[in-house]
Amino acid sequence: ISLTIRQDIAGNVSFPTLYGYMYEDINHSGDGGIYAEMIRNRAFQMNDTGGAPDLAHYSSVNGGGSSSTIKLDSAVPLNDVLTHTLRLDITQVKQGGRAGFSNEGWEGIRIQPGEKYMASFFAKSSKYTGPLTVSIESSSGTVLAKATVPSIGSSFKKYTIELAPSVKTTTTDNVFVISTSSTNASGSIWFDVISLFPPTFKNRANGLRTDLGQILADTKPSFFRFPGGNNIEGVNAQSRWKWNETIGPIETRPGRLGDWGYMNTDGQGLLEYLEMCEDLNMEPVLAVWAGYSLDQKSIAEADLGPYVQDTLNELEYVMGSTKTKYGALRASHGHAEPFDLKYVEVGNEDFFSTTYDYRYKAWYTAIKKAYPKLQIIATGGETSSPMETLDDHYYLSGPDMVADYNKYDNHPRNGTTIMVGEYATNINGCCGTSPANVQAAVADAVFASGLERNSDLVQFAAYAPTFTRDGQAQWNPDLIGFNTEQVWGTPSYYVQQMWSANRADMILQVDAANGNLGPLYWVAGSKNSTKQVFLKVANYGSSSQTASINLKGSRVHSQGVSIVLSGGVNDTNSAASPKNVVPKTSTFNIAGGNTFNFTFPAWSASVLLLHNM
Ligand code: AHR
Repeated sequence: ISLTIRQDIAGNVSFPTLYGYMYEDINHSGDGGIYAEMIRNRAFQMNDTGGAPDLAHYSSVNGGGSSSTIKLDSAVPLNDVLTHTLRLDITQVKQGGRAGFSNEGWEGIRIQPGEKYMASFFAKSSKYTGPLTVSIESSSGTVLAKATVPSIGSSFKKYTIELAPSVKTTTTDNVFVISTSSTNASGSIWFDVISLFPPTFKNRANGLRTDLGQILADTKPSFFRFPGGNNIEGVNAQSRWKWNETIGPIETRPGRLGDWGYMNTDGQGLLEYLEMCEDLNMEPVLAVWAGYSLDQKSIAEADLGPYVQDTLNELEYVMGSTKTKYGALRASHGHAEPFDLKYVEVGNEDFFSTTYDYRYKAWYTAIKKAYPKLQIIATGGETSSPMETLDDHYYLSGPDMVADYNKYDNHPRNGTTIMVGEYATNINGCCGTSPANVQAAVADAVFASGLERNSDLVQFAAYAPTFTRDGQAQWNPDLIGFNTEQVWGTPSYYVQQMWSANRADMILQVDAANGNLGPLYWVAGSKNSTKQVFLKVANYGSSSQTASINLKGSRVHSQGVSIVLSGGVNDTNSAASPKNVVPKTSTFNIAGGNTFNFTFPAWSASVLLLHNM
């Protein structure tokens, strides 16, 4: 096949926001994932699966013949929101012994050389006045770091203390311990909001795991769609994601049963998501709850008023000046500057409902009245109100994703832009039970190339879901895997990175001769500011393909750079082999500044970078 990149004719201007992320707490991507809190079950909000609180992940510590027990206590709550505490009842601490408790963290507590850890907890006692020892220990009992809280009182107070282990290697088989070795210790001590944070991404308090933040940053994302996905909807209206219960000091957040079957602490809440957007230079795309939940029940039209008002309150929290009620609340939480929110999405996957028309109208009308400049994204196609952007989702088999390469070629350009708010090749078909292998990644590359070719229309595109904690998946495939120690991209992650980090601002026409689409699929573009020309090619086939590539218009430098991801169809990355499939970068020569042959390996996704003279 011969491909001619047409720089001699004007191309289509591409939306600068094209590639970004869709994020929700699924697969333990938030708690136990990117949210850096290391203590599991820190505030006894509910049990792991959303039932009655328990002491899961805690154990009693009794050293040297000492005797104590731990119990969950609902009679001595921290406050009206966090109504259960851990009660340590000390009978006796023997000389040289200790009494206390440990927390095992999220499959261990990762300790890395050179890092300091910030521990905090609320405590009060019946008679013991201190001290308490706070430590990080290997599971076999080696103390890696310890510090002392000298005294505690008889009413709840927050104690904060730094732990500085001096270790030479990274380990995860560790626990967090609070104990006392005082032989005069006795009676009860109550604890709550027991927390341990490592250094975080961009040093944000209550922030992100640095490695997980960095792997997102490495794709140079432009937008962040949050907090769902299903996870905004609630299994019913009552259990929806409630923005106002995810803000303020963490000891005022009740948590909720998330829609993926496990407890969400909501430690990562609305403000943390917005700060994450600041730290990763992403435009927030804020999804708001729109009167529909996963039980397929809708709020009646006559009853929508309070819910619409709740969204307006949320938007005031995000965008209001400090003179407004909710803007002032945001300032009191540490962010005086209003966020420059541009995009609001009304609901999630409302094509499943029959009531979106009246619900969308109610939200659209109220938001537009208060914030005329906000761009509103609809999630169901059947609306009589103006539609500025429509969110389409694709979870299809490889052949179906490839067939959708042309999906938007003839789509009307009538002012409604497209968000592909979720897409992923599900090799076994929809939904959520497929491997994240090379074949899926190449089909993603075909599909994304089709979106990019139409990026005068497609304003946003995000793979979904973004993260999975190893062994904790509700949904496969995912873009990024991680465990307590490691993080790795799936082959699809590298496609996303290659396509997103090499972003054109103008999409160029490509003329094909001596062959047609399949197994090669492509998109070409240029970036004026850097004088780069990009050709992205996916080979969705089991044999290599050589293409003759020509440029019409300006000439390019005699050497190009290729970034190529390829492998066997079933190849993937995992904890045991995190770099099994990664892109390789090389150079190639270009004759006369405008012509070269390139061989695309079987099952491959390639970015060719050329540089205009
Ligand atoms: O990405 C997984 C789920 O797929 C999302 O939560 C939902 O929007 C879609 O059905």
